[in-house]
Amino acid sequence: MERKYPHLTSPITVAGVTFRNRMFSAPMGGTDITNDGCIGPKSTAFYELRSKGGAAAVTVSECMVHESDGSHAYRLNPAILNSLACATYTADAIRRHGGMPSLELSHSGMFAGTYMTDKTKQKTMKQWGPMDTVRPDGVEVQGMTKDMIDEIVKSYGDVAAMAKRAGFEMIMIHGGHGWLINQFLSPLFNQRTDEYGGSLENRCRLAKEILTSVREAVGPRFPIEFRMSGSEFCEGGYGIEEGIEIAKQLESYVDILHVSAGTYQKTFGITHPSMFEEHGRNVFLAAEIKKHVSVPVATLGGLNDPEQMEEIIASGKADIVYMGRALLADPYLPQKVTENRDDEIVRCLRCFTCMAERAATSTRRCTVQQLVVDIRLSFARRNQSLVEFLRVSRLFHLNMKCISLQVHTRSLLEMLVLKSDLIQKLQRNMLRRKMLMQLLSQ
Ligand SMILES: Cc1cc2nc3c(=O)[nH]c(=O)nc-3n(C[C@H](O)[C@H](O)[C@H](O)COP(=O)(O)O)c2cc1C
Ligand code: SF4
Repeated sequence: MERKYPHLTSPITVAGVTFRNRMFSAPMGGTDITNDGCIGPKSTAFYELRSKGGAAAVTVSECMVHESDGSHAYRLNPAILNSLACATYTADAIRRHGGMPSLELSHSGMFAGTYMTDKTKQKTMKQWGPMDTVRPDGVEVQGMTKDMIDEIVKSYGDVAAMAKRAGFEMIMIHGGHGWLINQFLSPLFNQRTDEYGGSLENRCRLAKEILTSVREAVGPRFPIEFRMSGSEFCEGGYGIEEGIEIAKQLESYVDILHVSAGTYQKTFGITHPSMFEEHGRNVFLAAEIKKHVSVPVATLGGLNDPEQMEEIIASGKADIVYMGRALLADPYLPQKVTENRDDEIVRCLRCFTCMAERAATSTRRCTVQQLVVDIRLSFARRNQSLVEFLRVSRLFHLNMKCISLQVHTRSLLEMLVLKSDLIQKLQRNMLRRKMLMQLLSQ
């Protein structure tokens, strides 16, 4: 079979590990964490599904490396009874379907506890950051001493060693999005006057020490990926020119440079490009950085169109594309691309329901995936296939995105896209939807 997307579906070998294609699953998580900080069974199933759907690497998201961080509450810690076992089950579940299990290690620094629903507990936590300061929400942050830095650096190595023991085949170090390592890289947060602040080289020192500690723990021929923001896109933060310099400083310590963008705190809709942004609006950052480094470069941000992703790889803008929400909307996207079934892809709307659901239900419910599952079940009962559903929906010129929005996130969407033509499309499709639903219930 001749592949429609030969570059996107071609394997890539990094540090001795061969990945089956260029479509990697971005870290998405923070849900189904057990009370003692282990990955719960539903999270394992969540990551397993991404591997089953054909992603070449599946990143298990933000594992905290140190007790001073309570943001994402998942720990890999020998003091926790089931910690290693749960991580091992997850890594094995991913590998079972041919995807490479990768673990993202992170520390939230001065923004520790961001996602804690218990805000009182959050205020009692220690907040470690580059500087003594008070956060906008009144929480005090303690500037890290050399001893504290050494402790964090060591903890990254310790957790990386455990991750390798559990069967992870790659480590992603989160150095972007405004968390601890990014706070040190950023002139906005870091005004230290010691060897960790000031010059770019000094601001990169913590990242280098952490990467060295991780390398010592995992050894050679084990991919280490560094996730960075190519630009912080905010006043006082660094831009792409410094992003390039940071990449140059760090490239000899890593096997993949993963170029994301912005920060959670200031540019959420750029880090996770909203529906008002262009698909792939951050690809230019990776493309610029790639001109200056020799390690493979990954890009992401609002990508879900195989043609666009093929062009990114074919034209050399990046070597790998990561997808977060696109794989939440359709975990089988990589498989469909590989089998030339791209017309069956269920596209992410970038509606942010998955984000809102964490606060509301501690899950990653997705607007469109849920709808398809619902309708697929209806058809299964009637012994008809999803393909049949798609045929019928096309017959009715039905915009599936609009139906699902109406079903699950109408009020959220009305807030978000009052001016968008999606609402108009939605209204136009109401009638057609009714007809379809009648058909389904027959
Ligand atoms: C539901 C959800 C959870 C996420 N969780 C994490 C996370 O734990 N760690 C992280 O580094 N990025 C996280 N991200 C950011 C994604 O990895 C990715 O950078 C971002 O969503 C942009 O890619 P996309 O447009 O393909 O979704 C999350 C994104 C989403 C949508
Ligand atoms: S909930 Fe919305 S933004 Fe999240 S993956 Fe689904 S369609 Fe995309």
